Amino acid sequence: MEYDINSIYADLANQHQHIRTLLRDLKECDHVHLVPMLEELNTVLGDHFSREMRAGGFYEAIGAKAVEHRNEVQLLERDHILLRSSFRGLLARAKLASDASEPELLKEVAEVAECLYDHERRENQMVEALFRK
Ligand SMILES: [Fe+2]
Ligand SMILES: [Fe+2]
Repeated sequence: MEYDINSIYADLANQHQHIRTLLRDLKECDHVHLVPMLEELNTVLGDHFSREMRAGGFYEAIGAKAVEHRNEVQLLERDHILLRSSFRGLLARAKLASDASEPELLKEVAEVAECLYDHERRENQMVEALFRK
């Protein structure tokens, strides 16, 4: 099967932009906005990750293009599971957070946000390396 990676990736562009905006806002977020921001991010990521992994989608196109990159695709898929679980956990904790627990929570939010940045950056690098030579 031939994959049109440019249109597959372009189809994800709005979500990638949305995620970058949410991550940037999350960095400067105070406790008032933390719960709604994490709720939005959880919703967006749920849809985004399943779109990337669906049949005929982004990850399948990468795996088909380069067998040697299938391990990396597996790592990206594992990231999805870990990131979903981390963000769900952060949301649950944010809903219960007290003033005392908040600095630690915000620190962890920043760490998980950095993992998501890194994940998206690796995806982008793979597209550049495989399809835009
Ligand atoms: Fe992803
Ligand atoms: Fe992505």
